[in-house]
Amino acid sequence: MLDRITFDGPVIVGAGLAGLTAALAAAPRKALVLSPTPLATGCSSAWAQGGMAAALSDEDAPALHAADTIAAGAGLCDPAAVELLTTEGPAAVRALAMLGAPFDRQADGGFVLSLEAAHAKARVARVGGDGAGAAIMAAVIAAVRAAPTVEIRENARARRLLQDATGRVVGVLAEIDGALVEIVAPAVILATGGVGGLYAVTTTPAQVRGEGVGLAALAGAEIADPEFVQFHPTAIDIGRDPAPLATEALRGEGAILRNKDGRAFMADYHPAKELAPRDVVARAIHAERAAGRGAFLDATTAVGAHFPHEFPAVFAACMGAGVDPRVQPIPVTPAVHYHMGGAATDLDGRTSLPGLLAAGECASTGVHGANRLASNSLLEAAVFGARAGRAARDLAIGGESPLSAAPTPDLPDAALQALRQAMSRDAGVIRDAEGLARLVAVLDALEAAHGLAPTLVAAQLIARAALARQESRGGHFRADFPAMALPERTFVTLQDQEPGRAVRYAAE
Ligand code: SIN
Repeated sequence: MLDRITFDGPVIVGAGLAGLTAALAAAPRKALVLSPTPLATGCSSAWAQGGMAAALSDEDAPALHAADTIAAGAGLCDPAAVELLTTEGPAAVRALAMLGAPFDRQADGGFVLSLEAAHAKARVARVGGDGAGAAIMAAVIAAVRAAPTVEIRENARARRLLQDATGRVVGVLAEIDGALVEIVAPAVILATGGVGGLYAVTTTPAQVRGEGVGLAALAGAEIADPEFVQFHPTAIDIGRDPAPLATEALRGEGAILRNKDGRAFMADYHPAKELAPRDVVARAIHAERAAGRGAFLDATTAVGAHFPHEFPAVFAACMGAGVDPRVQPIPVTPAVHYHMGGAATDLDGRTSLPGLLAAGECASTGVHGANRLASNSLLEAAVFGARAGRAARDLAIGGESPLSAAPTPDLPDAALQALRQAMSRDAGVIRDAEGLARLVAVLDALEAAHGLAPTLVAAQLIARAALARQESRGGHFRADFPAMALPERTFVTLQDQEPGRAVRYAAE
C-alpha cells in the first residue's frame, strides 16, 4: 500500500523559471514544487546565456516585438498568445528585476538592451554579458525559498499523473528520496523543460528529456507541434555532453563563421550572413561540417581581449578545453536547444485534461510557432508560468479518488544512449522519410523491450509528427520536401498519433 498525502494547492513538477514563477504566482495558495535535482541545477533556465527580449525602450513597442516573433514562427504562431507575451513582457522583466535579478543597466537606470538576430530592435535585457539565466534563477530561487506558501522537495520526480475515472488529473505519483508517494492535489502544473537529452548533442542539461510531454501524453493530453525542435547553430564542439553554448550574441557583436580553410561561408547561404535566422545558420554549419570543411566561430576581432568580462561563461568553457577564444576561432556544431512543441495549452496554461496545466518549454502555448525567436524562452517561462500559477490558484480539490497507477518505466542507460544517437541521426537538423521511418522502427523496438517510458513517448511523438509533416518549416527541414505547404499546426494524442485537428491562424 502506497503512502498517500493530500496537498491543498497546485503540485508543480519542475523547478526552472516557469515552475518557480508559477509557484510564486499561486500565492496565497500553497504550492508544492518537485525538483529532481537541487534547485538551480538540472534546469535549462539557469543555463540561458542570451537574456529576455521585451519592448523596454522608447524606440520599441510590443507590436514590433510581436511582428518579429510571428515572422520567426514561420506561419504557426498563435497571434493571441504572441500578443499576450509581448504586451506582458516588459512588466515580467521588471518584476524579475524587483525580485533582485541584476539586469545590466545604463547610467540613468534604464536596461542595457542588445540586438539579436531576427529582432528589428535592440530589446534583449542581459546580465553580465552571458549570465542572464543563472542570475535570474538565483533571484527567483531566493524568492521561493523566502515565500511561506511555497514548499520545495528536491530529489523528487513525477513517475505518473494520477487520474480519476473521468480522466481528470487529481495529483501525481511521485518518487521522493527513492520512495513512491501518491500526492492528491487540485491541480498539477508540468514545468519539466524541453527535450535536449533525447539527442546526442544538446545545449540543455542531459536529464531534461521530454518527461513532461511524455507524462502528459500518457495521461491522454493533447500534444501540439512535437516535430518542431530548435537547433542552436553554435554549440561549442569540444566533446562535452551536454555541449556548452557559444551565445548568439557573439554573432550580434560581429563574430564570423569560418570553415577550416578560414573562409567566411555564411554569404553562400543567406544575405543576412551571420545574422540569418537560427535554423538557416544551423543548416549552413551542418552542411559545412558534412562536407568535411568544419565550422568555427571567429570572435577574435569582434570580442578578442574583452572575452573574460563580456562573455565569461563562453570564455571559461573554451579555456577549459584548451581553446583561447581571444586569439583562436571556436569549433562549433548545431545542437538541440529548444522544443517549440509540448502539451497544448490555452493562454492560462490549461491543457486538454481538467486538472492538468503546463508552462515553459514543456508546454505549447502557440507563442513560438515553428521556430522560437531568440531570447523569447525565459520571457515565455515568466509570463505564462505566472498565468498558469494564477489559474491553478483558483482550483479546488475536485474529482473522484485517483485510480491506482504504477510508475512509468525508466529507459536503461544503454537504451537511452541508442535513442539519443538515433534521434540525432534521423530527426536532426535535416530529416527525410527514410531516416524518420528508420527512427520509428528503432523507437518501436525500444518500446517493445522497455515499455512506455515518458522519454520514449516524447521521442515517438517527435519522430512520428516529423514523418507526417511533409514540408519544411522553421526548425523542421525535410530534404525530401524542401518547400513549405499549408501553415497548419499539429495536434496529436498518444492514442491517435496521426495528426488531428488542423489550426491555421493566418491566410497566407
Ligand atoms: C543564445 O544566447 O544564443 C541563446 C538565446 C536563446 O536561445 O534565446
